[in-house]
Amino acid sequence: MKFFIDTANLTEIKEANEYGILAGVTTNPSLVAKEGVDFHTRLKEITAVVSGSVSAEVIALDFEGMFKEGKELAAIAPNITVKVPMTTEGLKAVRAFTDIGIKTNVTLVFSAVQALLAARAGATYVSPFIGRLDDIGQNGLDLVSEIAEMFFIHNIETEIIAASVRHPMHVHEAAMKGAHIATIPFKVINQLVKHPLTDQGIEKFLEDWNNQK
Ligand code: E4P
Repeated sequence: MKFFIDTANLTEIKEANEYGILAGVTTNPSLVAKEGVDFHTRLKEITAVVSGSVSAEVIALDFEGMFKEGKELAAIAPNITVKVPMTTEGLKAVRAFTDIGIKTNVTLVFSAVQALLAARAGATYVSPFIGRLDDIGQNGLDLVSEIAEMFFIHNIETEIIAASVRHPMHVHEAAMKGAHIATIPFKVINQLVKHPLTDQGIEKFLEDWNNQK
């Protein structure tokens, strides 16, 4: 499983990129709005730092609007992936983007059949939202398993991005259940690195080193 970061914050992206583990970035309108910056300028900045896929979401809800916006986003850099919501208009847009060679990430996926539809429309990625399902008392990770199994049975190459990740166990389980990628908030990436026994071990090694005769 690969790691994406789920943020539009440039400092976080630069820092995570230096860890050497970053394969891509996902943004969404809420994350961009939080930064209070111009969307296209920020995408240019992000794509200058990260060479992997950078998802940029369309705001339009109709096919024509999505297609126009998505083409403008894709023109910013070759590694832009156009993020499209899981709707009938979104599916039309995914097909049209696929036909002209633009990569897509179908977002707000909450069922395995939605993922299958997105894949058949040509989606490069599908993003099941784990945390938001957990929030309403459904098991988000079960959805990841179902999609992984369905894509395996039908030999589908669309990659699964486990999204709406809230804590380290989501990441561990997403990897075990067959997600190709997890897109993770910066705070959770750092939580994944930490283990109290690692910290204790470093402390003890240093103590012994400094106390040698
Ligand atoms: C994924 O691409 C989304 O940006 C994101 O994971 C949504 O997460 P949230 O449910 O924490 O807002």
